[in-house]
Amino acid sequence: MGIFSGKEVVLGVTGGIAAYKACEIVRELRKESANVQVILTQSGAQFITPLTLQTLSKNPVVMDMFNLISESEIGHISLAQRAHLLLIAPATANVIGKIRGGIADDMLSTVVMATTAPVLIAPAMNTQMYASAAVQENLAVLKSRGFHFVEPGEGELACGTVGPGRLADVGKILEMARNLLTEKPLAGKKVVVSAGPTAEPLDPVRYVSNRSSGKMGFAMARAACRMGAQVTLVSGPTALPDPPFLATVRVRTAEEMFSAVSRAAEDADVVVMCAAVADFKAKKSASVKIKKEDFDYRLELSPTVDILETLGKKKGKRVLVGFAAETDDLARNAREKMRRKNLDAIVANDVSRADIGFESDDNEVRVFFPDGEIRELPLATKDGIAVGVWLALNGKLFRR
Ligand code: PMT
Repeated sequence: MGIFSGKEVVLGVTGGIAAYKACEIVRELRKESANVQVILTQSGAQFITPLTLQTLSKNPVVMDMFNLISESEIGHISLAQRAHLLLIAPATANVIGKIRGGIADDMLSTVVMATTAPVLIAPAMNTQMYASAAVQENLAVLKSRGFHFVEPGEGELACGTVGPGRLADVGKILEMARNLLTEKPLAGKKVVVSAGPTAEPLDPVRYVSNRSSGKMGFAMARAACRMGAQVTLVSGPTALPDPPFLATVRVRTAEEMFSAVSRAAEDADVVVMCAAVADFKAKKSASVKIKKEDFDYRLELSPTVDILETLGKKKGKRVLVGFAAETDDLARNAREKMRRKNLDAIVANDVSRADIGFESDDNEVRVFFPDGEIRELPLATKDGIAVGVWLALNGKLFRR
């Protein structure tokens, strides 16, 4: 079951060189279980064939308003009514102008006018066209009418110019689609999530760290953002790119994470520490690379700051949530950490298993609350687990 499970996404593809990227959009939407119905404009069909989009979407591609078969089998009004989301990617200056002007002279512009679903537009065009007064005015008017946009990226365009106009990253378009299709139980909440490991230097090239990939924390941050929260993600060193539509602060050491989390936590409603903060650091870190011959093979370690425990001592109204990485006696250890760090909940996972916990794409967790209640979230993707954790926290802690 994907995020788009049970959702009908109508994808409008218009006539620009980026039309080929519609293939990837269709595939990703289908991977996340959407039923995708493509509307291809006549000029879109100059760039990509209906057969390609039909094969990928597993649905007939609609091109013609007045085709009797597609009108009787699909129908523009029924398409407009069934859609949970209408996504236009790529959207040319022409289609943007038509929508602004209320023109409905083909299947796509007619469905846009007839739908009550959110409409997400991903413009792609030449830089000068994008900068033109007409396009900018049309975009401003459509934004004021409640249309949603994923701004184009910058770079070298197919026509050779450099600047804004390139279709936004497909990942960003899809994330915006997910945002639009997710209910907003966390609207108005300010959330801080930490993720990844910390790295404690021994010298400029070596460090003490752990196996955390950041996947679980990033999933928690993305899910909160989709559910309407204003999110700050504080991440230790990971290979993951900054997620769109939220603020990411990159840090390396436990001390840096402590500063960044404390700053972001000042006006936050909830702090979720998913990071695997290193528990130890070198007592002395060398300022130059230690020579192999000079190394005495004994490390003197000292404890790092316990971020959660420190926040727990001056909690105020803030909700504090920890994660517990356990290899044995999960329930007892997790409850002990929750009590010692003065938490409102702790999410425990068994990191001795290879299929969940560190590095894997999946997880299985138990959420413990101080009153003894436990929510079990069975094996699922980390994205799925993140949604489950937020729903459990929301039901229990935020409705007080
Ligand atoms: O990043 P992934 O590869 O996706 O893996 C996910 C995960 C296994 C790292 C994640 O699900 C997880 O369990 N995170 C918590 C890891 C951890 O440090 O657990 P702990 O039991 O040692 O610490 C308990 C809590 O105290 C945690 O919320 C931790 O962030 C916090 N802590 C720990 C030490 C410290 N110095 N300061 C802290 O705030």
